[in-house]
Amino acid sequence: MTALLNGEMSVAACRVPNYKNMIIIRTVAELEEFVGHQKRNGNQIGLVPTMGALHAGHLSLVERAVSENPCVIVSVFVNPTQFNNPTDLATYPRKEEDDFRLLAEACVTAVFAPSVEEMYPGGPAAQPRHEFRLGTAAEVMEGKYRPGHFQGVAQVVCRLFQLARPDRAYFGEKDFQQIAVIRNMVESEGIRVEIIPCPIKRADDGLALSSRNALLTPEQRRLAPEIHRALKESVEYSKSHGVRATHDTVVEQIDAVPQMRVEYFEIVDARTLLPVEEWEESPWIVGCITVYCGEVRLIDNIAYRKP
Ligand code: PAJ
Repeated sequence: MTALLNGEMSVAACRVPNYKNMIIIRTVAELEEFVGHQKRNGNQIGLVPTMGALHAGHLSLVERAVSENPCVIVSVFVNPTQFNNPTDLATYPRKEEDDFRLLAEACVTAVFAPSVEEMYPGGPAAQPRHEFRLGTAAEVMEGKYRPGHFQGVAQVVCRLFQLARPDRAYFGEKDFQQIAVIRNMVESEGIRVEIIPCPIKRADDGLALSSRNALLTPEQRRLAPEIHRALKESVEYSKSHGVRATHDTVVEQIDAVPQMRVEYFEIVDARTLLPVEEWEESPWIVGCITVYCGEVRLIDNIAYRKP
């Protein structure tokens, strides 16, 4: 472990060479020791939690973290407790070697890539049950369609915060609701960390980058940018139409695309995530959407009003 702290163990620990000085941490004990060492040296820690299959969206968070913290830890862990659909968990893309290479190139200090057993000794079901207080933000939209999802997100992010003790943690606005829920978790658990929201990264055709995009057939991938196109067009439309009409035009346009089905589209107050009926109700209004493209569940959002 001393060797790991000095950075000497990086190649040996990851077994695959060419990860520069990035340290690969597999166990909770090693992470705690690494973090203790960073703290003793007075290094601020930036944490970027991910489930891997990294793309430019994740890397934009990583780049920001690297620019703001002397020590950056990226976690790569497909967290079983936030999946309410076993097929989704089974088919979730896993590309560990590519991920490690990208993170080393981005000058990350350490990657934390534990096994499920390491994070949840005895399995997820054996964990002591702790009901996180996540507020109404966790009950709407994703909370409604993916029961238990946010409790699972809160469980893993809280554990990562306790272990990595970050000064700052970076999250993407693609998962707009997730950020609100994590803020509530941080507050209710009394954790001291600055949550840094980062803008959505898109492909050139507008599709929000997502690990799940890799699961789309070529035909579905060609159609999927319609989600962002319809949302963007609706911002213009919203300037001369009400909330209900704006909502309906988005749903109609996307549902008209073959293989695409809107699961929900909600136009909400960005702070409470509760639906609005009039544009005047809040200075910050966001439209959050989930669309099934074949079997692949894609999410996106757009701001209609921003302070
Ligand atoms: P994952 O889907 O891997 O996303 C990790 C982080 O990358 C999240 O904060 C997400 O919002 C951000 N991200 C994903 N696509 C993005 C894009 N196109 N532009 C900007 N940011 C993007 O979200 C999770 O993992 C998990 O729920 C996690 C927080 C790691 C807990 O398990």
